[in-house]
Amino acid sequence: MRRTFGNRWWLAFGGLCLAQAVGAADTPARPWMNPQLSPDQRAALVLKAMTQDEKFQLVRTEFGDSQNGHTKAPGALGSAGYMPAIERLGLPAIQESDAGLGVAKPREIGATSLPSGLATAASFDPQVAYAGGAMIGSEAHRRGFNVMLAGGVDLARDPRNGRNFEYAGEDPLLAGIIAGHAIAGIQSQHVVSTIKHYALNDLETGRNTHSAQVDPTAAQESDLLAFRIAIDAGHPGSVMCSYNRVNLVYACENDWLLNQVLKRDWAYPGFVMSDWGAVHSAGKSALAGLDQESAGETFDDKVYFDQPLRAALASGEVPQSRLDDMCKRILRSLFAAGAIDHPAKAASIDFAADRKVAQQAEEAGAVLLRNQQALLPLSPTQSVVVIGAHADRGVLSGGGSSVVQSPQGNAVPGLPPGNDWPGPVVYQPSAPLAAIERRAHGKVQYDDGHDPAAAAKLAAQADVAVVFVQQWASESFDWPTMALSDNQDALVAAVAKANPHTVVVLENNGPVRLPWLEQTGAVLEAWYPGAGGGEAIARLLYGEVAPAGRLPLSWPRDESQLPRPQIPGAGLAALGAPPQGKPADQVDYRIEGADVGYRWFQRKGLEPLFPFGYGLGYTEFGYDKLQAHWQHDKLVVGFDLRNTGKRAGVDVPQLYVTLPGEARTRRLAGWSRVALKPGEVRHVEITADPRLLGDYDPAKHGWQRPAGSYRVQLGHSATAFEGEATVDLPAANWQ
Ligand code: BGC
Repeated sequence: MRRTFGNRWWLAFGGLCLAQAVGAADTPARPWMNPQLSPDQRAALVLKAMTQDEKFQLVRTEFGDSQNGHTKAPGALGSAGYMPAIERLGLPAIQESDAGLGVAKPREIGATSLPSGLATAASFDPQVAYAGGAMIGSEAHRRGFNVMLAGGVDLARDPRNGRNFEYAGEDPLLAGIIAGHAIAGIQSQHVVSTIKHYALNDLETGRNTHSAQVDPTAAQESDLLAFRIAIDAGHPGSVMCSYNRVNLVYACENDWLLNQVLKRDWAYPGFVMSDWGAVHSAGKSALAGLDQESAGETFDDKVYFDQPLRAALASGEVPQSRLDDMCKRILRSLFAAGAIDHPAKAASIDFAADRKVAQQAEEAGAVLLRNQQALLPLSPTQSVVVIGAHADRGVLSGGGSSVVQSPQGNAVPGLPPGNDWPGPVVYQPSAPLAAIERRAHGKVQYDDGHDPAAAAKLAAQADVAVVFVQQWASESFDWPTMALSDNQDALVAAVAKANPHTVVVLENNGPVRLPWLEQTGAVLEAWYPGAGGGEAIARLLYGEVAPAGRLPLSWPRDESQLPRPQIPGAGLAALGAPPQGKPADQVDYRIEGADVGYRWFQRKGLEPLFPFGYGLGYTEFGYDKLQAHWQHDKLVVGFDLRNTGKRAGVDVPQLYVTLPGEARTRRLAGWSRVALKPGEVRHVEITADPRLLGDYDPAKHGWQRPAGSYRVQLGHSATAFEGEATVDLPAANWQ
């Protein structure tokens, strides 16, 4: 029952609590425990009963672990954040853990890791996102956590951004829908989820200081739109404000971001928590809309939301009503997620079942980039040489606060940068080699790839060579280039020269240069593959499951195609890439504005290596009889989708819309994900998301759809279309 949708939970649970409430009718001391009341009503009742000290307890958490000179409190679980229970009021402790791919800490205990957020986004499947969220929410609850620091949705404006793997790609609609469903999945388990990092924390280099310079309208139509769509879909209890500044003002004291956009325009009812070390003031932050300071004693200059905030109240700088609002928002979110009625507590975890959820996400989200002469799927009769990337032991994970270690431990411990932040480098013990061996009847050999000539020699003797290449990326730094490190390009080139039947499997943060692409037979983008990664990769390679992932971000040929070819100060010395120069004080996102990713490529007339939305399968699909209508206030596109190949497969037809007017770029406005047997034809309808059919109007703090002719294109990707139409739409406005 624990992975069913929220409504059913609420019904079952409502009955249970009602029975308790009736039984407890003669002890009305805690009227907020009546589940028939709304979360707002319940929060208001608690607030009335709170002392001023209890309120000050609620508006800050402390670090939940012993580190950086901080000793963890006795009740803390050894993770990111902790607030002791307020037993007098029946409020449980707040126990917060990272992050979006699984329960990161305590690392020694271990948990199930989903594949990269980009893999989930590449599935284009909200149900995959929801299932992954429900899985990690369930593990969190069973570990005693009631807040997950998940929901990463910063847009991928640069393939070198060290945290792309935690996010959901470059498109506001896709990223918002995927992150929103992941959040809904987490919260279905009575665990509050954040959405983060609000906003424009789109690069790690200099993240604590740099200012994201952006035109406010462009921000509304790109990064902020992703947040808004995710909030609408997932109703996260909390928004985590980011480290960076936005238009020169720190995100956690940014009145425009927090008060005006989030709380006023979007009517967001939850609370804003700071990132760890993102608070720089008491009164200014509180007045700008920050509701809870995270781990200030360990990461901020001081605990701003204790004595300094008390002083700001005493002096009249911050009114009591603001403190009350902060508390009410926090309480409301705890009630809304069910975290108070269903306290998180230790319970057993079915790791085998959870690993299957992670494996399914990887199977749905790996992207087949190239497949010459149907090299894939492999046949079990072929002999195989498996090369590189510790494929004999496991699959790589991204690093930083989100990294999840398996309960079986780290499959490849001790790699640089070691245990020092942002390490450790963690591998999930799901070895592709073993999974390939389970399928191949022919000979299977392994070479670690450190000597390209030796690997090539072995590859020449086999029917097929499968080369694994990897790129570790992490929170807190960006790679200075898109090039793979450690001589891996030479390895692939040598192997591909020795054996034209070379398959490359990428385990990486995102787009890298592929100088050897034309020499290879096939390339599979496996991202960071997660707890079931080895098995998923083997199933895809052998055609037990059809590759159906589509790129959630554009794949540039190299850095010269990017809006900012250089990232000053990017790199990590411990990985042999020492930063050159100082991080920029300002990152200029006005260059591309809202034209992120494929829209930038279109605007500049550039051809990426692989476009957004691209991905192959083991069959092909055609679109026919496209019709587009404006009906009942909706733009609906219908067409026949045909599997024109010889194998079953899954297609992701994509609807792109161009608004009327000059110099417009197309926008993804909807998609479908359809499984078809060979030769099967299905009529498919895609409704354009109305939020993509307008422009932000800063004067009205709202949106307007211009009247005129809208161009509709049905795409296999953001650049390959099969069918288009023009539809006249009337004007409209909305908030
Ligand atoms: C990260 C957040 C994370 C927090 C707590 C910060 O460094 O930016 O994403 O939730 O740490 O670990």
